[in-house]
Amino acid sequence: MLERTARPLRGLGNGLASAVDGFYRLAGGPGRLLQDLLNGSWLGHSLHALVVDVVVGGTTVVLFLDILRVAFGVDDLAIASTWALGLATLAALAGIASGLTDFKDTPPDSDERDVAVLHGALNIVSSAFFVASFVARMGDAHTTGFWLLLIGYAMVTMGSYIGGHIVFKYGYMVNYNAFSKGRRAKSFTAVAVAADVPEATPTKVMFGSTAVMIVRRGDVVHALKDTCSHAGGPLSEGELVGDTITCPWHRSVFRTADGAVLHGPAGTRQVSYAARILDGQIELQGPRD
Ligand code: FES
Repeated sequence: MLERTARPLRGLGNGLASAVDGFYRLAGGPGRLLQDLLNGSWLGHSLHALVVDVVVGGTTVVLFLDILRVAFGVDDLAIASTWALGLATLAALAGIASGLTDFKDTPPDSDERDVAVLHGALNIVSSAFFVASFVARMGDAHTTGFWLLLIGYAMVTMGSYIGGHIVFKYGYMVNYNAFSKGRRAKSFTAVAVAADVPEATPTKVMFGSTAVMIVRRGDVVHALKDTCSHAGGPLSEGELVGDTITCPWHRSVFRTADGAVLHGPAGTRQVSYAARILDGQIELQGPRD
């Protein structure tokens, strides 16, 4: 139902995602830092989820204060509701910026992206109502401010429901490896002949049924699960730069030694394994917890 409603927005969604991606690429290093900030890579999960809590919670408080003000005639509550709405509106603007940053990496031509456009459109329009309500309240037009807030609140409620649909149905911005940690081995297990693995080249090996990316430099081997924690990209097809691997799909950067996230959009550390060379064989143990 939601998917069918959102499908006509496909062209808009693809264009918007390309524009946001183009902006970040053009902005270079500073753009990378801004993207990390807004994706929430530094936080360990999506920043968007955090700031939209402030929007929904803040506007709920404002609505409640408005009702108390009218019901009990406490005019001073108007000041509290105006400033609480100011805070919620700032959070809504941060929600738009973080949402667009997460959105750009949704799969092109997908139901997921279509529904994300619908979610974003509702929330952007609701934010415009919040701004208008705040301006009206600053001009002492509190009744007008109330009605503008009420319209925006109805829209942000629908938008939030759809946002939940994107996370719960499609698992967007959820650790891709959360439900499939892969093979666990307490003892070291041979996965490849060391001489067959080229020096300093990301190489895919099978650890039982789990694909693992290994990098060998001399006698030192690092091993990460091949499936990127962001959205499942194959790390063995990524670019090795120094001690880091860049995912080929959306350019998350992980440290090969332990899977730490150095750049997003990934927010979750990549699953990593202990690795060694013994009798000419590369052996893995783990994953590390
Ligand atoms: S799949 Fe998105 S960065 Fe790897």
